[in-house]
Amino acid sequence: MSLLIKNATIVTADEIFIGDLLAVAGVIKEIGAGLSSPDAEVIDATGKYLFPGFIDPHVHIYLPFMGTVSKDDYASGSKAALMGGTTTLIEMCCPARNADPVEAIRLWKGNATGISSCDYTFHMGVTRFDETTAESLDAIVRDEGITSLKVFLAYKGALGIDDRELYETLSFAAERGLIVTAHCENAELVAEMQKKLVSEGKTGPEWHEPSRPVTVEAEGCHHLMTFAEMTGAEVYVVHTSCIPAVEAITAARARGVKAHIETVASYLTLDSSYAELPNFEGAKYVMSPPIRSKEHGDFLWEKLADGTIDTVGTDHAPFDFKTQKRMGHPENALDASMNATGKPGDFTLIPNGIPSVEERVKLLYTDGVCEGKIDLQTLVRTASTNPAKIFGLYPRKGALEVGSDADLVIWDPEFRGEISVTTHSMATDYSAFEGKAIKGRADFVTVRGQVLVRSGEWAGSGGEGEFLVRVP
Ligand code: URP
Ligand code: ZN
Ligand code: ZN
Repeated sequence: MSLLIKNATIVTADEIFIGDLLAVAGVIKEIGAGLSSPDAEVIDATGKYLFPGFIDPHVHIYLPFMGTVSKDDYASGSKAALMGGTTTLIEMCCPARNADPVEAIRLWKGNATGISSCDYTFHMGVTRFDETTAESLDAIVRDEGITSLKVFLAYKGALGIDDRELYETLSFAAERGLIVTAHCENAELVAEMQKKLVSEGKTGPEWHEPSRPVTVEAEGCHHLMTFAEMTGAEVYVVHTSCIPAVEAITAARARGVKAHIETVASYLTLDSSYAELPNFEGAKYVMSPPIRSKEHGDFLWEKLADGTIDTVGTDHAPFDFKTQKRMGHPENALDASMNATGKPGDFTLIPNGIPSVEERVKLLYTDGVCEGKIDLQTLVRTASTNPAKIFGLYPRKGALEVGSDADLVIWDPEFRGEISVTTHSMATDYSAFEGKAIKGRADFVTVRGQVLVRSGEWAGSGGEGEFLVRVP
């Protein structure tokens, strides 16, 4: 099937111009003016933007975590992504420490195969590094087509690794030309701060941020940078939330460390006051690192605009409010054994994460482009082209070039709407952006030429996505 998009304002990371685009058999065949093709479906995009499909470099679809499992599956998660203009997902494969890595990546892949409507790949989580790990990871790179790893410096006793394991993982990656993504918070400090606050009776969601302050994140970043410097590994800091963290990474860059910076849409568009909402509503906004005060969000926008921050993901980690987030409610005695005090319900038991895969591009466009904080090219660069370049998908993805996959987003800048749980496609029972007025929407979305969103309505049937094989 062929598609001819006419009169679009074509936006890439480098240029903006009015033109036509012809896609044949799932790839871009021609870009220019006055194109015609008798067999193609013709779409008039006058007054609309044409973007390359957006890539979310950090999502969790299947996440067994903090005593529960995330809410989406690939049917709901990829549909939600596409409704928001995201055509490729990079999911974190997060095995338990005692799990077999090869079995884990097969499990995570199996969840997506034949179900995902987005194209997809994975960052392979390294949650243990022992004498068998190198062999397993080599097999995963060679046989499973994965070229990026994930480590957690946080989550002591769960997904987190120690310094010896960090050193081994980075050395392994450096030798093989793999990139290591990392969650950077000092796990020991978080554990101590949590114990202290809970013992003082500070148990509500509003104490989550003080338990993991900006210094704790900055230490995590500096820590990773030191290990990257010693091993020569290329690293990518996920969900960077604050000024000192960005500064720790840019200082390392100045020393020659190959470091990339990701932030996420929630840090740009929410602030720490949301975690203070009454009636436990603050739990909806508990994620790690925490959402910071507004000055940090303002700084992140500036650093996005000036190119310091490379990418914007979501860290989509969907947990229901009424059941899962309430595991940390004082009335909930079920998980008392899991927290620092053995007493029921506190913020340390609230599953960390915010559902957001559907909202990233709308938020970046509404709060960023329409407010003059970033331009259209920065939107494309940070939410599509840079993720593709950093993670070995470019120019197949992240580009509007002849030969690239026809992953296309026609964006209607005139659309006005509101975000709501009643209309979103994610599986969670709440939206962290409930009632937010949005400008613009993904009107028409394709993955390799398959039309999955039409006039803002779902047009897919499931399973259209493919696993993206990568080589180091
Ligand atoms: O709060 C978060 N970020 N939840 C998901 C797990 C992670 O750390 O990415
Ligand atoms: Zn994380
Ligand atoms: Zn994450």
